[in-house]
Amino acid sequence: MGGRVRPDPCNPAGVCLRGIFIVSERVLQTTTLPARDDATATRWSGAEDRAMSEAIRGAKKSRSSTHPNPRVGALVLRGGETVGRGHHERAGGPHAETLALDAAGDAARGATLVVTLEPCCHVGRTPPCTEAIVRAGIRRVVVGMIDPNPLVNGRGVSRLREAGIEVVIGAREEECRALNPAYLKWRATGLPRVTLKSMVSLDGRVATASGESRGLGGPEEQRLVHRLRAESDAVLIGVGTAVQDDPLLTVRLVRVANEPWRVVLDSALRTPLDSRLVQTAAEAPLVIATTSGDAARAHDYASRGVTVWTFEEDADGRVPLEPLLRRLAEEGKLELLVEGGPTVHTSFLRAGLADQVAVGIAPILLGGASAPTWTGDLGRSALADGIEVGPLELRRLGKDVWLMGAIAARNGGPHV
Ligand SMILES: NC(=O)c1ccc[n+]([C@@H]2O[C@H](COP(=O)([O-])OP(=O)(O)OC[C@H]3O[C@@H](n4cnc5c(N)ncnc54)[C@H](OP(=O)(O)O)[C@@H]3O)[C@@H](O)[C@H]2O)c1
Repeated sequence: MGGRVRPDPCNPAGVCLRGIFIVSERVLQTTTLPARDDATATRWSGAEDRAMSEAIRGAKKSRSSTHPNPRVGALVLRGGETVGRGHHERAGGPHAETLALDAAGDAARGATLVVTLEPCCHVGRTPPCTEAIVRAGIRRVVVGMIDPNPLVNGRGVSRLREAGIEVVIGAREEECRALNPAYLKWRATGLPRVTLKSMVSLDGRVATASGESRGLGGPEEQRLVHRLRAESDAVLIGVGTAVQDDPLLTVRLVRVANEPWRVVLDSALRTPLDSRLVQTAAEAPLVIATTSGDAARAHDYASRGVTVWTFEEDADGRVPLEPLLRRLAEEGKLELLVEGGPTVHTSFLRAGLADQVAVGIAPILLGGASAPTWTGDLGRSALADGIEVGPLELRRLGKDVWLMGAIAARNGGPHV
């Protein structure tokens, strides 16, 4: 494993904030924010609005590379002109605000900073952005949203206002929130965001009765799957898929800065030592999550570069999902793509631990009474008990169709 990822002290991991997730300045004002003192502080200009749009586009450039930090974009505006821009590229790297201020240089004095997320105000792996903003002589700051990081959470805004800087909050807030769904879910729950991905036949089968499933999706679908992997911090399957399909789970069809971790749920350490997953452990991180105490077998994996995590078994005698998810989040893995078979997908759905589903449909009928569908027994018999998904996003991918949608909150879906 390429070294444990140290959580950025600016955004420390493992904090469970369920129930106290603060989503708006209105709420924050009752907690840490000083009351605004003038009416103009609630508005932003057309130029600032356009600048926020550009900052959001800038933040998107760092897609998938910043966790456990959020994606952030910033711009320095002077007389309606952009004089500096920056976006946070990776955890541990400079923050968007300092990059934009550095680019602006002396032109930052008396200018406006537009930033998608509240600036940090404490010493982490990088110095506090609020002090850089004050030092640069910024007169006004337009913030997209408050940072739910408990070390920030309104304190950045307070610090700027104390220094006499005018601060406006909420410009394009929804779009700023949409930049960081996994970060926001983790801040609210301590858990990664989970997407269940499956490729099925037109009659809903993930494999033939004999277990054959590779090649179900066409090349366009394959490319999309690799893009989803590239945007994820980790990809997970169960040992059933590892044994049957012998997948690699690496990103090959699109460019990626860092290979996502590959995770196998394997209670009894059955993943074959000559599997492609194990054979490539030195090139792309592989974690086997187990409940087995077989030290010799664990050593066989470790000597091949595989990381073995051991958990207490869950009520079904398997790898417990929530502790595993918390451990992944502690490692900075906030976006998880589950590419398992029906057993794993069913476990996530039954536990209410999935946030969205992504299902490709191939124009082929497989039939077969024992050919598996992508979910198993979800323990729901009435139509009204079904797990709602949506609104669905629909795409055509060559001959295939692709559907993606969020699981409704009442079923344990999105928290953001
Ligand atoms: N079309 C597709 O998109 C697609 C994708 C993947 C797989 N498939 C097909 O699906 C079939 C394999 O299905 P599968 O259901 O066996 O694969 P799976 O869901 O990937 O693996 C299931 C296994 O994972 C292990 N596991 C450990 N902890 C678990 C937990 N908490 N919850 C659930 N499982 C846990 C269990 O084995 P232990 O008890 O030994 O730990 C379990 O039998 C193959 O035919 C494959 O080709 C299709």
